[in-house]
Amino acid sequence: MENLNTIGVLTSGGDAPGMNACIRAVVRDALDHGMRVMGIHKGYAGLIRGDIFEMHAKSVADIIHRGGTVLYTARCPEFLQTEYQDRAAEICRIFGIDGLVVIGGDGTFRGAQALSDRGINVVGVPATIDGDVSCSEYTIGFDTAVNVAVESISKLRDTSASHERCSIVEVMGRNCGEIALWSGIATGADAIMIPEDKDSQSFDQIVRVIMENRVRGKNHNIIIVAEGVGHSQELAKRVHEATGIDSRYTILGHIQRGGGPTALDIKHASMMGYMAVETLAKGETNRVIAYQKGAYVDLDIDEGLAMKKKPAMDIWQVNLQISTY
Ligand code: ADP
Ligand code: F6P
Repeated sequence: MENLNTIGVLTSGGDAPGMNACIRAVVRDALDHGMRVMGIHKGYAGLIRGDIFEMHAKSVADIIHRGGTVLYTARCPEFLQTEYQDRAAEICRIFGIDGLVVIGGDGTFRGAQALSDRGINVVGVPATIDGDVSCSEYTIGFDTAVNVAVESISKLRDTSASHERCSIVEVMGRNCGEIALWSGIATGADAIMIPEDKDSQSFDQIVRVIMENRVRGKNHNIIIVAEGVGHSQELAKRVHEATGIDSRYTILGHIQRGGGPTALDIKHASMMGYMAVETLAKGETNRVIAYQKGAYVDLDIDEGLAMKKKPAMDIWQVNLQISTY
């Protein structure tokens, strides 16, 4: 690869706290290398429309602590079609973008693969609150989302305990139970239901745990349900019918994607944004930055996407063990 003159940066998929800190690191490090930096609004949707502007050191001032993404984000279904992928590669050439940093999840990296196939130098940075990027043990936004969930569940605990109720709390994660597992163990939940494991969804077992805990003197219960399992309203009704315990359901929803990032998210975002530019500057392309065994590494995107992530069932087991009265 020849020396890069101009790099582009975009955020794609669901927003995640820490994306701004990552954009800041990308912009500042690229400028340090003497590169021009182009910001692309609204992910691939903005790229195919040429919604692109030049960024300077000051463009990313005062955003390190802010949630959301100053570049905006979008889901862009058209980008699955080769016609739009061709157009995006053409737009990169028109704007002189010879390197592109994409900040998002596995879907975003699939889009990056398509651009790489069309000769664009790309590097992906894992950012999604779900924590479900297959090759990385950490994704930007996860820690903030878990902390927001824990804070909200702790508030529900106060009212649930006062009324001696069972609280069913639905947390985000369509295909991945990571937020449910972490927020569940951090709030002493009686049970955690995740989409990847059918056993965790056993209604009989949940009723048994609730009843055993009540017999032993616990006056309230918390059941965490990942979004991918769903049906929390119906579950609250069924728990009431099966146990006679007054039950309420709460869906935490998009509140988990908001708020300023935690220090952990800012640290990972800054390190991974910096790594992405360094990787491009070294002349590498079609790479994804990953956090593995305490270190930042870069992997081939195809290899990264081929990896499989297993749910942290150790958290589930330990929680079951220690949440029993
Ligand atoms: P995430 O990046 O968090 O996994 P999505 O799965 O919604 O989020 O993907 C974000 C965007 O990436 C999609 O809206 C689409 O524009 C693009 N994308 C996803 N999958 C592909 C694919 N197979 N080929 C090309 N682009 C894709
Ligand atoms: O970004 C991940 C995520 O928050 C998932 O947990 C959730 O299933 C999905 O995005 C919600 O997407 P939308 O913002 O389109 O409602």
